[in-house]
Amino acid sequence: MTDSRPILFFDSGVGGLSVLAPTRLLLPQAPFVYVADNAGFPYGIKTEAEIAARVPALLGRLAERYDPRIIVIACNTASTIALAHVRHALELPIVGTVPAIKPAAQSSKSRVIGVLGTDATVRQPYVDRLSAEFASDCTVLRHGSADLVQAAEARLRGEAPDPRIFARAMAGLTDQPGGDRLDTVVLACTHFPLVEAELRAAAPHPIDFVDGSAGIARRTAYLTQGQSWPDVPGDGLAVFTAPLPGADALAPALAAYGLSRIVTP
Ligand code: DGL
Repeated sequence: MTDSRPILFFDSGVGGLSVLAPTRLLLPQAPFVYVADNAGFPYGIKTEAEIAARVPALLGRLAERYDPRIIVIACNTASTIALAHVRHALELPIVGTVPAIKPAAQSSKSRVIGVLGTDATVRQPYVDRLSAEFASDCTVLRHGSADLVQAAEARLRGEAPDPRIFARAMAGLTDQPGGDRLDTVVLACTHFPLVEAELRAAAPHPIDFVDGSAGIARRTAYLTQGQSWPDVPGDGLAVFTAPLPGADALAPALAAYGLSRIVTP
């Protein structure tokens, strides 16, 4: 008996592709449904109340529609605000994406680390708790950038984003007190690994970038170990919650992540 239920990935946009990529490598037979809530995009400038109301309700409808075996919330903003609500509302295993502060603190030599996320993520008590638990001997600088989310979306559509966006994002950290000693930056928004090369090039001094995607892939593989998969997984599905005017421009990037069918309302 093969089990054809997919793994459902969820983000506001294309950011979750940075988590999908390592998961596909670990689970090559898994069928994937990747949902981008472009009707609600961007999440990073929404209030906590908006995210906490929207994400569990939407995931409930998506779980009914696609019958996934597991859901990966490939979005730091949704996870740091709504993970507990989603777990409470759904019976399924839910993997969240939260800022990789622990590995950053483990590897930082200067003991100054940065958390680069959305405005909503960097102000979350969840980030306070991770910093207190895993980086209490570090200075933790935080910066939120909405432009960087848009730049990553543009990049996946094949556009060349304005390089000043990357310089401003890095300066948002390095211009803070202690920022000259910053040696490790947590990419605390799943969109940002998609523009890591640009961020690295814009950094005023050498900086290591850390994100949680490999750990999330391992966790997803662990939670589904021993389960059966279709012999041939078929094409991955990219589902959008609103019409997508740039679908043609985005299609090649989605296909590169194994998502060759696009579904829009
Ligand atoms: N990709 C999302 C995250 O990890 C949010 C981007 C947005 O919609 O602002 O936080």
